[in-house]
Amino acid sequence: MYDWLNALPKAELHMHLEGSLEPELLFTLAERNKVDLPWKDVDALRGAYAFNNLQEFLDLYYQGAGVLQTEQDFYDLTWAYLLRCKAQNVIHTEPFFDPQTHTDRGIPFEVVLNGINQALRDGRQQLGVGSGLILSFLRHLSEEEAEKTLDQALPFRDAFIAVGLDSSERGHPPSKFERVFARARSEGLVAVAHAGEEGPPEYIWEALDLLHIKRIDHGVRAIEDDRLMQRIIDEQIPLTVCPLSNTKLRVFDHMGQHNILDMLERGVKVTVNSDDPAYFGGYVTENFHALHEHLGMTQDQARRLAQNSLDARLI
Ligand code: ADE
Ligand code: ZN
Repeated sequence: MYDWLNALPKAELHMHLEGSLEPELLFTLAERNKVDLPWKDVDALRGAYAFNNLQEFLDLYYQGAGVLQTEQDFYDLTWAYLLRCKAQNVIHTEPFFDPQTHTDRGIPFEVVLNGINQALRDGRQQLGVGSGLILSFLRHLSEEEAEKTLDQALPFRDAFIAVGLDSSERGHPPSKFERVFARARSEGLVAVAHAGEEGPPEYIWEALDLLHIKRIDHGVRAIEDDRLMQRIIDEQIPLTVCPLSNTKLRVFDHMGQHNILDMLERGVKVTVNSDDPAYFGGYVTENFHALHEHLGMTQDQARRLAQNSLDARLI
C-alpha cells in the first residue's frame, strides 16, 4: 500500500532519538537495567499514548527515557531507528538527542554520545544511511543549564552538526537562549529550533532574529502571520513539519485540517518528518501516507516534499 511512498528517496530532518523508543525495546531495556515500570505490559503502555497537548506527551516521553542507561542501550535505540530508515528509503537523517534528559539522572554525557555515535557510524558503513547529529537543549530548563550542557559537548565538537531547542514551548521563548546559541554558533555549530508548534508566530520571529536558525522545527503556526510567511518564502527557510505528531498533540484536531500542503503550494520549503515515531503512530512513510489519505496529496506533491527534505539537509 505504501510502496510508491516508501520508494521515494528522502531525508528525515526532525526526529528525536528518545522518541523512537518503541514499547517493546522500552520493556527489554527496563528488564536489562532492572527498572520498575508502572505499566503491566507493552499493550498497557501503548494504551497510555493518548495526549491532549505537548506537555502530556513530554511527561510520558521523559519517563520512558529513564530505561536508557548504558552505551549499549543508546546504541540499540539508534540502530533500531536506522533500520527503519533503511526500510523506508530514508537515505539521510539528522536526528536530535536531548543530553539533559540523561545527564540530569546521572548518566554521563559520553555514555549517551558514544552509544549514539557508534550506531550512526555503523549505519553509514553497513546500511548506507547518512547522518548528522543535533544536540538539543531543553527549553523548560534554564539557559545556565544549557550553557553547562554546551560545555560538556564542546570536547566532542566534531560529533555534532547543530544545536536545537525543544521541550515545553509555551512560556519558554527562544529569547531565553540567545547567549548559549551565540556561543554554539561561534563554535561553528548551525542553529535550529522548535518554534510555532504550540507557541505563537512571535516565537518563530525570535528564533530567526535572535537565535539565527537555519531551519524551523514545526513552524506550522507561521501561517497566522502574513509577513512571516512572506519572509519564510522569500528566504526559502525550511520547515520540518511532523503531521502525525501535530494531530496526536492536537495542534490540529484532524489530519484533514493540516496546513502542510497549503504551505507547499504557497512556496514554503516544507518537509515531512516523524518527530517521535514510537509515540505518534509511524515513521516517515506513515506520515506521507497520512497526507495522501486525508489531504489527497498527489504523487507530484510527494516528490516535491521529498526533494525539499534532500535540499534542506545541513550536511
Ligand atoms: N521533544 C520531543 N518531541 C517534541 C516536540 N514535538 N516538541 C517539543 N519537544 C519535543
Ligand atoms: Zn520535535
